[in-house]
Amino acid sequence: MLILLDSADLQALRGIIPDHPLDGVTTNPTIISRACSGKREIPGLLRSIRGLLGNEGMLHIQVTAATLDGILAEAETIKEQFGEDVYIKIPVTSEGIKALSILAKKGIRVTATAVFTPQQALIAAKAGADFVAPYVNRLDDLAVDGSRVVREIKQIFTDYSLKTRVLAASFRNIEQVHRVCLSGADAVTISPELYWKMLFHPLTAVSVEEFERDWAAIPEREERN
Ligand code: G3P
Repeated sequence: MLILLDSADLQALRGIIPDHPLDGVTTNPTIISRACSGKREIPGLLRSIRGLLGNEGMLHIQVTAATLDGILAEAETIKEQFGEDVYIKIPVTSEGIKALSILAKKGIRVTATAVFTPQQALIAAKAGADFVAPYVNRLDDLAVDGSRVVREIKQIFTDYSLKTRVLAASFRNIEQVHRVCLSGADAVTISPELYWKMLFHPLTAVSVEEFERDWAAIPEREERN
């Protein structure tokens, strides 16, 4: 199970990535818009995230163009600027699928995003996507069980031996992440805030306080009877 951070907040990322078992970062235009005050900052911001990840972590960068030519041009720029091992995130639109097919055939890593149904995921997998990203919370918000969609995507990929992996995205709480893990997702991408909520438990904090208190209460020298 891969865990990635869905954020471009450098300070938040620096507080987690170097020391915690994370596998990468995903971004999208909305996430980028929250992390910078002007478009000129974006290349430097993404380079900083790339540097933070080193050679191991995955970096998924979403295109902003809507047409085939625009997507292909942006993908080329992203590859030139950030190296071969970047994943190009492309929404599962008609133009997006066309671009995804071309890029996949060229060996460029692609994540199909804004996925809401197993059918969209199947088409993206057939087009050659390395990952498909179903948006769990946005499905849950529509009273559609996002974890069920993840489970059904995984079942289809397994039944038809499709190598594409499921990178579940869009979470608001730990329960959603938990259900998606039980549904067989290959990866989740979560906010830094949700990562800390996954790690922290009040009873862990209380238990550690008790250990420290009881340890401190042991006398330095044994008391002579
Ligand atoms: O990459 C997609 C993901 O960031 C969407 O999450 O919380 O905007 O539904 P959210």
